[in-house]
Amino acid sequence: MKTLCVAAVVVLSLTSVCQAASLACEKLLKPVDNDPDLRGSWYLIAISSQSCWVSTVVSSVLWPSIEVNVTSKDTRNIYTAEYKYKFYGYCETDSEDYLYENNTLFDVNVNSTPLGQPDELLQSGCPDCFVVKDDYSILFLFSRRQNVTDAELKEFESQADCLGWSKPQVFNSDHDHTNCLSVEDGDEDMSRLSSLIFERMKNTYTVQLKCFTETFYSLPDTAFKWTQQSWSNFFSF
Ligand SMILES: *[C@@H]1O[C@H](CO)[C@@H](O)[C@H](O)[C@H]1NC(C)=O
Ligand SMILES: *[C@@H]1O[C@H](CO)[C@@H](O)[C@H](O)[C@H]1NC(C)=O
Ligand SMILES: *[C@@H]1O[C@H](CO)[C@@H](O)[C@H](O)[C@H]1NC(C)=O
Repeated sequence: MKTLCVAAVVVLSLTSVCQAASLACEKLLKPVDNDPDLRGSWYLIAISSQSCWVSTVVSSVLWPSIEVNVTSKDTRNIYTAEYKYKFYGYCETDSEDYLYENNTLFDVNVNSTPLGQPDELLQSGCPDCFVVKDDYSILFLFSRRQNVTDAELKEFESQADCLGWSKPQVFNSDHDHTNCLSVEDGDEDMSRLSSLIFERMKNTYTVQLKCFTETFYSLPDTAFKWTQQSWSNFFSF
């Protein structure tokens, strides 16, 4: 009888813990109430993804900084996003048009006709941020600031957690586009680039290892240990 009661108490308290968690998640995963004004400049702060490999490759191989400037076009609800990327000293720009309506962002074709599934804007407690959940199971945190507080990042992590997605990885925050190397001008110095990428991978190898573990935990134990060991050795000279 006593065991039963203990079990009942444990179950009851677990239930209320779960309810609290799912209520919090319900709130965190709600779309924004009214379309925030997206015009102007934003910095991409962090990324989470359903498959940890996406966020892992972004943060431990490419590690770009990304700034986007959103302007409205003459057509109603059509916006142009101009992206500025920087990675390992190289800078690139790119632009894309979107339809922005009902808290969702659609890619558009040349005639401004929406294409495919929309990206969704989610609630954010951070006053000058927005969170996008895209069609490829990736979650992005943008802010007007180049970096956000730990509490704001923590909230984004909870949003990712609620979806069961990867721990957020933070983008590079070097947005200085003076003295850039240009890929087009043939500035690429492969040995410099590969040693920088190798250095970055070495410094973030625990992130790769964690993703690796999550992906391959079902491998036979010896195979797993062998791969883990090889991965560690690779970065340890
Ligand atoms: C954003 O784009 C508009 C239109 O091209 C331009 O006037 C504005 O200066 C840009 N803002 C930034 C921060 O680059
Ligand atoms: C947005 O909502 C309005 C009203 O519900 C609807 O008419 C319109 O088609 C929606 N737009 C998109 C792009 O889904
Ligand atoms: C946040 O960004 C500012 C520049 O906007 C920079 O000076 C500062 O060092 C950054 N802080 C952190 C913790 O990265």
